[in-house]
Amino acid sequence: MKAVLVKQPGDASQLCMGDYPTPVIKDTELLVKVHCFCLNRMDIVQRQGRYPPPPGASPLLGVEMSGIVEEVGSKVTKFKKGDAVFGLMPGGAYAEYAAIDERLAICKPDSLSFEEAAAIPETWFTAYQALFFVGNLEPGMDVLIHAGASGVGIAAIQLAKHAGAKRIFITAGSDEKLEFCKSLGATTAINYKTQDWAEVIAKETDNKGVNVIVDFIGKNYWQQNLQTLAVDGHMVILAFMSGNIVDQVDLSMLLRKRLRIEGSALRSRSIDYQSRLRDAVFEKVIKELKSDKCAFKVFLDKEFDWKDIQEAHRYMESNQSQGKIVVKVTQ
Ligand SMILES: NC(=O)c1ccc[n+]([C@@H]2O[C@H](COP(=O)([O-])OP(=O)(O)OC[C@H]3O[C@@H](n4cnc5c(N)ncnc54)[C@H](OP(=O)(O)O)[C@@H]3O)[C@@H](O)[C@H]2O)c1
Repeated sequence: MKAVLVKQPGDASQLCMGDYPTPVIKDTELLVKVHCFCLNRMDIVQRQGRYPPPPGASPLLGVEMSGIVEEVGSKVTKFKKGDAVFGLMPGGAYAEYAAIDERLAICKPDSLSFEEAAAIPETWFTAYQALFFVGNLEPGMDVLIHAGASGVGIAAIQLAKHAGAKRIFITAGSDEKLEFCKSLGATTAINYKTQDWAEVIAKETDNKGVNVIVDFIGKNYWQQNLQTLAVDGHMVILAFMSGNIVDQVDLSMLLRKRLRIEGSALRSRSIDYQSRLRDAVFEKVIKELKSDKCAFKVFLDKEFDWKDIQEAHRYMESNQSQGKIVVKVTQ
């Protein structure tokens, strides 16, 4: 089959089209002819050689796709050849054919295009996991979501609003992104390049802080995040886009405010955990997406042909996107 390969770990110019063996599916897997896949930040880190796929996963890039079932394993019960599906996988989506465990696959509703469907799994599963499985967000709580216009941020704002969060604070790097996040339900949007976000939140919460923080930034925000958490607050660390080494760490706030800080990486979770998450997102989000009065929207920023994969990666690295970058697998 055709697939996107990485010649040598490095920048986007290392991506190329090439031939790769078609996956041989296990008993519980589906072989899917891929129509679309979406980009995620981890693809960049994996391309650079700094994020090896989990044991047993395809070494090809890509953790989410949509397409048509071509073949089913002998123990598959819920899908058949010809079904339109989408889902999460530990690797291998940047290809003509991909293998996915049936517990992680979802039937594509007619109301969603293949492009929209491919844009759901990684970001919505991650946002759902961060807010509810780990962050324990409850109605009436205040939440801070960094990188508000990121794929994960966009899903998190909508989920927090739907769950009845009282105030939804977000940070982002341009005024256009702030306006976009407000249109999704953010109650206070702060430009981290021109404002001191921790000061703004302290003022708006009478120095009480927020109950839950979803952080992707790491080093640069560590101290301000601790200051901004309320007593008994939870912070979920999903990435460290500004760096992972913090020079000086003051532990006193952890004790004084009884803070809980937890990291999470979806890709390394067991299939059982991921399928519980899939079921929760299916019940709360995908079923909604089928209805006319849906509270959620999937945002596609830009589409690329997979032959232009280098350009797609460079676009993600430029930090311009407000939503998912979709790639179409063409002949
Ligand atoms: N742990 C997990 O399980 C998991 C799963 C999925 C994703 N993630 C992580 O979640 C993050 C978001 O992923 P995504 O695919 O949704 O990303 P995305 O759509 O590409 O958006 C990322 C945004 O983050 C902002 N940003 C980048 N570097 C920054 C910095 N140093 N300081 C502040 N803001 C910065 C940029 O927006 P601005 O213009 O606002 O700066 C950028 O557009 C990534 O770091 C990804 O690796 C983790």
